[in-house]
Amino acid sequence: MEKGEDSSTFKMGNSAQERSLPYVPDCYVVPPSSKPCDSNSGIVPTIDVSRLKGGDDERRGVIQELSLACQHLGFFQIVNHGINQNILDDALEVANSFFELPAKEKKKFMSNDVYAPVRYSTSLKDGLDKIQFWRIFLKHYAHPLHRWIHLWPENPPGYREKMGKFCEEVRKLSIELMGAITESLGLGRDYLSSRMDENGMQVMTVNCYPPCPDPETALGLPPHSDYSCITLLLQNLDGLKIFDPMAHGGSGRWVGVPQVTGVLKVHIGDHVEVLSNGLYKSIVHKVTLNEEKTRISLASLHSLGMDDKMSVPRELVNDENPVRYKESSFNDFLDFLVKNDISQGDRFIDTLRIKD
Ligand code: OGA
Ligand code: NI
Repeated sequence: MEKGEDSSTFKMGNSAQERSLPYVPDCYVVPPSSKPCDSNSGIVPTIDVSRLKGGDDERRGVIQELSLACQHLGFFQIVNHGINQNILDDALEVANSFFELPAKEKKKFMSNDVYAPVRYSTSLKDGLDKIQFWRIFLKHYAHPLHRWIHLWPENPPGYREKMGKFCEEVRKLSIELMGAITESLGLGRDYLSSRMDENGMQVMTVNCYPPCPDPETALGLPPHSDYSCITLLLQNLDGLKIFDPMAHGGSGRWVGVPQVTGVLKVHIGDHVEVLSNGLYKSIVHKVTLNEEKTRISLASLHSLGMDDKMSVPRELVNDENPVRYKESSFNDFLDFLVKNDISQGDRFIDTLRIKD
């Protein structure tokens, strides 16, 4: 590392990944994972969600698959989700074009205020965390669309229209999936639908991981779980790794989730872990880097309203199953984010667990 190079040298607008530095500065170097990484992605369930609209038996079958995936891994892929391939391609394309804009244009959105509804930044908590990550991102609220879209980038032309269309489609899908999830827990399909529909939050995280000169030493994102109920993710290249805690006799391993055109990934987030009183687990995941290509991912995080607290449903509590989590909202997560360092392994869900 050059003299004086620490995290504060690589603040947003001046980060190594935005400048395409030909080397990885020390403050980006992560300790190697102690867990093996297997390329075998055969364990990742793929669910045909068009069958949710089928007859009762068909729907029950899908819900059973979904329930198993949520219990074992907290992660699945979906096919036949009904979103047109053009909408997915267009969203990835405008995302990529946004990151190719001149710095001056992107800097209009630069902010490390985690409460801002639209912001451009780098790493995780830019320049503040101990370790930096090789990521550039634009985050914006997306629901209700008419409330936020005028704050989104006007450039590249078509960004608002194409990203907006993608956000709307993904949100409809998220409501449908949440209905299946609450049904699988015996709470009924509409248990959360009005709360998610009316005030629910949708945070679209548009991630860009530029080529990294030494992809083994740095990460795009450190191991973390999402605060959301569910996150729907679209990627243009491999790079997502999920943690399978049951593998190797319970010591766990990382599994690469390959890019397949048209497939969307679904992460169970901390708020569904709470909703299920721990039956479903939020998935720990991270992002690895590529030496040649720029990776783009669109992560759409769906949760209840800003101050609407997710709590363990009374229906799931009895003598054998006491309440295992404290209630919390999206805003509580943001407060947690300000005070903690995810790169050091701090997890929101750990702060919610009620000790026996
Ligand atoms: C995230 C995330 C994964 C990816 O934005 O929370 O985990 O593949 N992204 O970019
Ligand atoms: Ni994530």
